[in-house]
Amino acid sequence: MSALDEIQAFLPCPTPDSWIENALANPTLMLIDHANCEKKAANTALSLINRYTDNFDLLNKMSRLAREEMRHFEQVIAIMKRRGIAYQHVTASRYATGLRDLARKGEPGKLVDVLVIGAFIEARSCERFARLAPHLDTELEKFYTSLLKSESRHYQDYLKLAKTVAGNNEDIDKRIAVIAEKERELVESPDTEFRFHSGPMVAV
Ligand SMILES: [Fe+2]
Ligand SMILES: [Fe+2]
Repeated sequence: MSALDEIQAFLPCPTPDSWIENALANPTLMLIDHANCEKKAANTALSLINRYTDNFDLLNKMSRLAREEMRHFEQVIAIMKRRGIAYQHVTASRYATGLRDLARKGEPGKLVDVLVIGAFIEARSCERFARLAPHLDTELEKFYTSLLKSESRHYQDYLKLAKTVAGNNEDIDKRIAVIAEKERELVESPDTEFRFHSGPMVAV
């Protein structure tokens, strides 16, 4: 099974075709929000490094991940600069907050959930890069295809860390199922604003 096949099997549903149409109709916003996603992914990894200093495997994986996400950020803003796209502020989508609201409050459940949610965010990003790539111009197609490898590894890193932290104490598949159900809702239900992780736009 390829890494992409594994990711598609992990996700509860494919990205709706209408979201792909929304993305192609909003190329500027797509790049701006993509830059935001890379920056936020690095931030999430750094906040885990700050909070969980006793887990060397987590520290190492999250440090590498943060570096890679900031490298992706540099690549996105370089493309924006070449295309004359200003880096304007855009509000966050409902997606990450909607998932993080599911995280339990007490440890170690909180960390397990945050890591599983990280795996979903990385997996969905990877799936969307793969779905978008064939529709994009040569430069973006090459770039988005190049991101698949690192994003799929990020998904695997998050999932492995979640399994290690959960250990024998809990059946992680139950948490994955709960979070997957919410992920499906966020991906399939109509959204009001287009973002990299939004649902399809409400028809107007
Ligand atoms: Fe990235
Ligand atoms: Fe990533």
